[in-house]
Amino acid sequence: MSKPKALIQPDRGQDAIAIHLVNKDGLEAFAKTLTAGQRASLAGQKFEGGGYQVGIVPDGETWFAVGGVANPESLSSWCLAKLAEELPEGTYRLATGDAGPAMFGWITGQYRFARYKSDDKPAGARVLLTAQAGQIDGYTAEAEAECLVRDLVNTPAEDMGPAALEAECERLAKAHKAELAVVRGDALEQGYPMIHAVGRAAARHHAPRLLHLTWGDPAHPVLAVVGKGVCFDSGGLNIKPGAGMRLMKKDMGGAGHALALAGLVMGARLKVRLHLLIPAVENAISGGAFRPGDVLKSRKGLTVEIDNTDAEGRLILGDALTRASEENPDLIVDFATLTGAARVALGPDLPAMMARQDDTAEAFLAAAKTNDDAAWRLPLHEAYREYLSSDIADMVNSASNPFAGASVAGLFLDRFVGEGIDWVHFDTFAWNVAPRPGRSRGGRGMGLRASWHAIRARYGQ
Ligand code: BES
Ligand code: ZN
Ligand code: ZN
Repeated sequence: MSKPKALIQPDRGQDAIAIHLVNKDGLEAFAKTLTAGQRASLAGQKFEGGGYQVGIVPDGETWFAVGGVANPESLSSWCLAKLAEELPEGTYRLATGDAGPAMFGWITGQYRFARYKSDDKPAGARVLLTAQAGQIDGYTAEAEAECLVRDLVNTPAEDMGPAALEAECERLAKAHKAELAVVRGDALEQGYPMIHAVGRAAARHHAPRLLHLTWGDPAHPVLAVVGKGVCFDSGGLNIKPGAGMRLMKKDMGGAGHALALAGLVMGARLKVRLHLLIPAVENAISGGAFRPGDVLKSRKGLTVEIDNTDAEGRLILGDALTRASEENPDLIVDFATLTGAARVALGPDLPAMMARQDDTAEAFLAAAKTNDDAAWRLPLHEAYREYLSSDIADMVNSASNPFAGASVAGLFLDRFVGEGIDWVHFDTFAWNVAPRPGRSRGGRGMGLRASWHAIRARYGQ
């Protein structure tokens, strides 16, 4: 895609094509300002002011654009996305009003994943001018973070293995002068036995590791961000059927969210001490693979009987959450493509959010609403804890009944989060099934902007 940075620019009176925004109610009044020929042109394009409709109106030697939106007085994140997608290369400005959050959709509407297209002809940039120069950097940073999630998720597993995730962390660390520690090999086996067990069957060039980035003043409150980095989830010996495996390159989507969120936190120089923890593995099959019935001893010391090798995300996160808890964090946020059950409960568009504290949950849900990044809370219902009891170990990694799978996975993670620590967990799909303006099919952030805004508000900027 075009570098997001350039797609929104301050309005200094440059030549630009006007975009008029109208809705169905306002169309008649708007049409009165047009010539008969211009009205006929819009009618010929069947422009009725409906959401995402785009019209082109001739104007002497030139033309202007008309976009249908729900409410021209209050723009959502997506309402300019279709215009950004469809209009030709050029420079534009809104005829009246401010783009505000629609800057985000203007940029993401131009996202394309062309890495593997050999005949790629990139569309030229559609640049939007805005008088709100002070807002450009913020929305551009959010859009860049979103596009990063998409790029990481869309990249196939062979090119986005644990080593590639490490390279992404390295790039991030360099950009923000953060420190990156990578735990692998014997140190991983000793210190993070569940991460090692899940990842040990992979080929050498996809060897498992824990990526640990730290940044910021140690005197500030610790914010820990954790992301599930299963670069491919075959299911392990409990192998997935073909249809269920097809999209499993996206099983590092949580890591993508965590990386992107860390970038936003550091870019805004929030007053936190940041710990980004990404357990990066491939859940592969080989003679060395961990097995159903094996008992793993976790970093925390709890023993976990493996009921199903396909419930691997919670294992690697368990060790990573234990490590995060050792920093006495003010808040832990984790992202994971953790359960099919969350999709059954909420469908592909709504990430399931779980949280220990109601006030924290409410802050995240409020940020979700105001930033067009919907999320829904599921309970960490105490009574379901017993679903994870094991005959021979401290717990099993998956329940023997099919109930409340997302909550039960959340309860599994809860065992590894230190007592009393404020914790938010996102079970996210990280994938857009139905293409819509600003949201192409494929990788997509879900819960990223909600978390970012809640965190920014919490740490006072
Ligand atoms: N990565 C999957 C979950 C997943 C599947 C997310 C499809 C999004 C779409 C996870 O590792 C998994 O396989 N979970 C199992 C857990 C079960 C064995 C308890 C699941 O949800 O079926
Ligand atoms: Zn799995
Ligand atoms: Zn998985």
